[in-house]
Amino acid sequence: MSEILILYYSQGGAVNEMAQLIARGVESVSGAKARIRTVPKVSASYEATEPEVPAKGDPYVELKDLEECTGLALGSPTRFGNMAAPMKYFLDSTVGQWLKGTLIGKPAAVFTSTGSMHGGNETTLMTMMLPLMHHGMLIVGLPYSEPALSSTKSGGTPYGASHIGGAMDDKPISEDEKKLCIALGSRLAEIALKLEK
Ligand SMILES: Cc1cc2nc3c(=O)[nH]c(=O)nc-3n(C[C@H](O)[C@H](O)[C@H](O)COP(=O)(O)O)c2cc1C
Repeated sequence: MSEILILYYSQGGAVNEMAQLIARGVESVSGAKARIRTVPKVSASYEATEPEVPAKGDPYVELKDLEECTGLALGSPTRFGNMAAPMKYFLDSTVGQWLKGTLIGKPAAVFTSTGSMHGGNETTLMTMMLPLMHHGMLIVGLPYSEPALSSTKSGGTPYGASHIGGAMDDKPISEDEKKLCIALGSRLAEIALKLEK
């Protein structure tokens, strides 16, 4: 079984919901399984520590998840046009895996949820790719053969899946955004299986 790691951070729940849709896409591919993980919050206080296991929700990622996965979908809310600090903090702890080349040649995709339409969902997706490219991963986007990419009135880009939550973050994930999350998950899983051969 080819396990795709879906690693996300979410404060309000939108990116969490996208992660579940991407998992649906992954698991629509025969031979592929989704492993969903999250990252803890970062505290400004050096004294503060998060519990080892979250009180609710998905388990925290461990470095061995990166070793064991055959592909990675990385999701974060947009924060000032970039990924959120907890995800960057986790990525900065992966120097050992970078030195070992753990992720070299594995496929990766990115996804984000953003408040406003032009508030940086594309810049977040593009900049989330950079550490993955340093790790030697092969970036998987969304091709225009996906009809939802042309019909969407909100999120969804060739660079990865996205959702526009609105100023109050009260907009549900649209049908086109959903289709593109699922398509991204299945494309990632299909490519991971091909690369494994
Ligand atoms: C500190 C902070 C910075 C943010 N920066 C942006 C931004 O640059 N552009 C934008 O459109 N939305 C921005 N937002 C809104 C979030 O991207 C948006 O609410 C997102 O849908 C949250 O995802 P989540 O529900 O998974 O936490 C910001 C929110 C916070 C708390």
